[in-house]
Amino acid sequence: MKRLSTLVDVFLVLALFSCSTWTVWSSSCCNQINLNEVRPHSVSITEFGAVGDGITLNTKAFQNAIFYLNSFADKGGAKLFVPAGRWLTGSFDLISHLTLWLDNDAVILGSTNSDDWPVVDPLPSYGRGRELPGGRHRSLIYGCNLTDVVITGNNGTIDGQGSIWWNNFWNKTLNYTRPHLVELMNSTGVLISNVTFLNSPFWTIHPVYCSHVTIQNVTIIAPLSSPNTDGINPDSSDNVCIEDCYISTGDDLISIKSGWDGYGISFGRPSTNINIRRLIGKTTSAGIAIGSEMSGGVSEVHAEDIYIFDSHSAIRIKTSPGRGGYVRNVYISNMILANVDIAIRFTGLYGEHPDDTYDPDALPVIERITIKDVIGVKVKHAGLIQGIKGDNFVNICLSNITLNVSSKLPWNCSYIKGFSDLVSPEACEPLKERIFPEHCSDCYYLPNHLKSLSNQNWGAWLLS
Ligand SMILES: *[C@@H]1O[C@H](CO)[C@@H](O)[C@H](O)[C@H]1NC(C)=O
Ligand SMILES: *[C@@H]1O[C@H](CO)[C@@H](O)[C@H](O)[C@H]1NC(C)=O
Ligand SMILES: *[C@@H]1O[C@H](CO)[C@@H](O)[C@H](O)[C@H]1NC(C)=O
Ligand SMILES: *[C@@H]1O[C@H](CO)[C@@H](O)[C@H](O)[C@H]1NC(C)=O
Ligand SMILES: *[C@@H]1O[C@H](CO)[C@@H](O)[C@H](O)[C@H]1NC(C)=O
Ligand SMILES: *[C@@H]1O[C@H](CO)[C@@H](O)[C@H](O)[C@H]1NC(C)=O
Ligand SMILES: *[C@@H]1O[C@H](CO)[C@@H](O)[C@H](O)[C@H]1NC(C)=O
Ligand SMILES: *[C@@H]1O[C@H](CO)[C@@H](O)[C@H](O)[C@H]1NC(C)=O
Ligand SMILES: *[C@@H]1O[C@H](CO)[C@@H](O)[C@H](O)[C@H]1NC(C)=O
Ligand SMILES: *[C@@H]1O[C@H](CO)[C@@H](O)[C@H](O)[C@H]1NC(C)=O
Repeated sequence: MKRLSTLVDVFLVLALFSCSTWTVWSSSCCNQINLNEVRPHSVSITEFGAVGDGITLNTKAFQNAIFYLNSFADKGGAKLFVPAGRWLTGSFDLISHLTLWLDNDAVILGSTNSDDWPVVDPLPSYGRGRELPGGRHRSLIYGCNLTDVVITGNNGTIDGQGSIWWNNFWNKTLNYTRPHLVELMNSTGVLISNVTFLNSPFWTIHPVYCSHVTIQNVTIIAPLSSPNTDGINPDSSDNVCIEDCYISTGDDLISIKSGWDGYGISFGRPSTNINIRRLIGKTTSAGIAIGSEMSGGVSEVHAEDIYIFDSHSAIRIKTSPGRGGYVRNVYISNMILANVDIAIRFTGLYGEHPDDTYDPDALPVIERITIKDVIGVKVKHAGLIQGIKGDNFVNICLSNITLNVSSKLPWNCSYIKGFSDLVSPEACEPLKERIFPEHCSDCYYLPNHLKSLSNQNWGAWLLS
């Protein structure tokens, strides 16, 4: 009887197995978020004495406006309107049930005085600042323990004026790790849309310990030469949806992370259910990266409709002995590459440790990585795919990949194992095993109760 009642599930599973014929099991993460965008109360930053001349420091005005709006948090929330103008400010905190709304030609400018970006504690999952031991400068726009928070508008701009920070980095005069442009910590129900982000001092948008984050239709730009100006870094966060974004920065466009070595292992918060679609961009680094900080684990990453041009690599997984953790169930499809040095790059010996306390025996598990339906022109190397000796990366699956490659040795693979089909130039030896549907399908996106079913031997199970 129980078996009969699960027949519906069986048919669902069988239907999904048709994704072995490469139909896309579309993720609906972006549709699940339902934020209250209509705020009954609204004030303009000018009502709090802000001056949009690009010179007057408006930190107090932002803080006072948000303090005032906090009284509407339990009355449907409120909107802080930022009109056209150049609004210089230091770091300020968001609150729950708030919409920060930037009108067209509104520019929030980050102060060029580092004192306006106070130093805060390091993240527990990193144990120290990412760049230097100790604390880190707080992001320009910061929020912690929030729910229902929106940053949006009519293509207004948030400009970090990061060049002083980049210079401090280059000339080694930083005292603490550089700040992000936006950081939301331990928050749920976050929407960032229709805004342009420029010149972040460090990673641009950093959701950390967050759930249900949507980033939609944003433009993120920093010079290609600027150091570590990643676009979006979902970090120990789940149910993240990133779509319709154009990103061009000096480091990875999107980099999924989950903490650093022993600190990340003991914090133990993975990044999972990360959905990316319709991403366009270029970078001196990778289009979509995972790691190198992945000690809390990264899983269920689904990316589709990606266009990467004039970049170092398109897909990059970075890890190291000492990281522990895992990267599994990554499914990337429909990618177009143009003028990319290395289409697919995995680095098992990335190095970089927070301190000497890391356990070199904490080896990461990298498995079930599928990349399919890729076309590339002007690609130098197809793949530099390097696992870890004694810790092979397994179930790497490449399907339907056609790259016009200039290198005579297009693939360079070590300590990996997997499958391939319809790959040109022909994949490296460790990836030559023939594909069976279950190897490379995105069926590991099944709901958990179906996932366990899908691991069974169907014929035997149905007949028993
Ligand atoms: C966030 O919540 C935790 C636990 O309640 C608290 O310890 C911490 O101070 C809060 N952080 C902020 C910035 O409110
Ligand atoms: C994206 O943002 C631009 C300007 O902010 C707007 O004109 C456009 O309609 C938006 N597109 C979508 C799909 O939201
Ligand atoms: C939004 O503004 C940025 C910078 O001002 C500009 O580059 C971009 O084209 C604008 N996007 C839209 C859709 O208007
Ligand atoms: C380093 O760069 C900062 C920011 O541009 C500058 O203020 C400082 O004088 C520089 N220091 C040295 C030693 O070059
Ligand atoms: C680092 O500290 C020194 C000494 O306190 C200070 O002069 C300098 O401005 C600080 N640098 C930054 C980037 O904050
Ligand atoms: C996150 O928020 C929860 C309550 O919502 C709290 O228990 C926890 O301490 C917070 N964590 C941090 C790192 O602020
Ligand atoms: C972005 O802007 C467009 C055009 O104004 C609007 O239709 C859309 O709803 C906005 N998207 C979000 C998520 O705010
Ligand atoms: C291979 O990928 C291309 C897109 O890059 C797609 O148009 C084509 O249908 C795919 N072929 C197969 C056999 O799946
Ligand atoms: C591949 O690139 C070479 C030059 O590097 C060019 O001659 C050839 O036409 C390209 N082939 C395709 C299919 O684009
Ligand atoms: C493969 O890549 C490694 C690391 O970049 C390099 O040391 C090695 O020489 C390469 N092997 C070949 C055959 O190119």
